[in-house]
Amino acid sequence: MAQIIALYSVKGGVGKTASVVNLAALSALQGRKVLLWDLDPQGAASWYLQTEPESAPKIQHLLKAKSVAEGLRPTKHRNLTVLPSDQRYHDMEHRLAEKKDAGFRIAKVLDGLTEDFDEIWIDTPPGITLLGDNVLRAANLVLVPIVPTHLSERTWFQLKTHLVAEKITPGKLAGFLAMVDRRRALHRDFRQAHLRDMPELMDIEIPYAAIVEHMGDSQAPIVFSHAKHPAAQAYFQLWQQADQALKKL
Ligand SMILES: Nc1ncnc2c1ncn2[C@@H]1O[C@H](COP(=O)(O)OP(=O)(O)OP(=O)(O)O)[C@@H](O)[C@H]1O
Ligand SMILES: [Mg+2]
Repeated sequence: MAQIIALYSVKGGVGKTASVVNLAALSALQGRKVLLWDLDPQGAASWYLQTEPESAPKIQHLLKAKSVAEGLRPTKHRNLTVLPSDQRYHDMEHRLAEKKDAGFRIAKVLDGLTEDFDEIWIDTPPGITLLGDNVLRAANLVLVPIVPTHLSERTWFQLKTHLVAEKITPGKLAGFLAMVDRRRALHRDFRQAHLRDMPELMDIEIPYAAIVEHMGDSQAPIVFSHAKHPAAQAYFQLWQQADQALKKL
């Protein structure tokens, strides 16, 4: 049975996609059989893995456990398969809402995939949405990138409140600091200032690094293309901590 790990945040543009591509790549590098399910109609994760959006399955096939596997596409990286996304999925919310099991559909669809993989990583679009709730329910572990600002802190607490309201176990949430610029006091001091009120913050930070922005040039995870770079090393530490967290759950 595959472990399911989602990258999720209420805020957009915080590094979910950059992280999930690198973390899934690291698991594949360890020899695990990995699927990255791109559930964001922006299709950025699929693009980083050089998958054509047109190859994404029709949405009605995607939302059924018995046909979802038709959408699986190999990547050029060993052990790493992608279930690509496409802008045709922009109405996923409505499609889900029509289903009787609207809040649990993705979990059920995952049943059609979990036997074939060791890990399934999910990239989600930002916001508190029905799709997001599906992912939050289905995942064993939810990694939340937090850019050190007051607004990020605020959305973190919104997310926790939401989980309680939806009766989703908050214990599966783990935050990590992302796009950290140590020249800025707010970034440097964030962890110390929030140690007490954000105990779910993992002891790791992903630095702000141009190399991550340039991932689009090579369309390859930086943990493959620039494995020695501090940002790639930081992804590796994050991966290790996520792996430990999964074992404890
Ligand atoms: N550690 C980093 N250092 C520098 N730039 C980064 C870093 N992580 C992500 N970026 C850049 O920031 C932008 C947003 O990152 P990304 O797409 O991963 O965020 P996201 O949370 O997935 O966004 P969305 O909510 O739109 O899906 C991208 O241009 C990406 O290249
Ligand atoms: Mg994204």
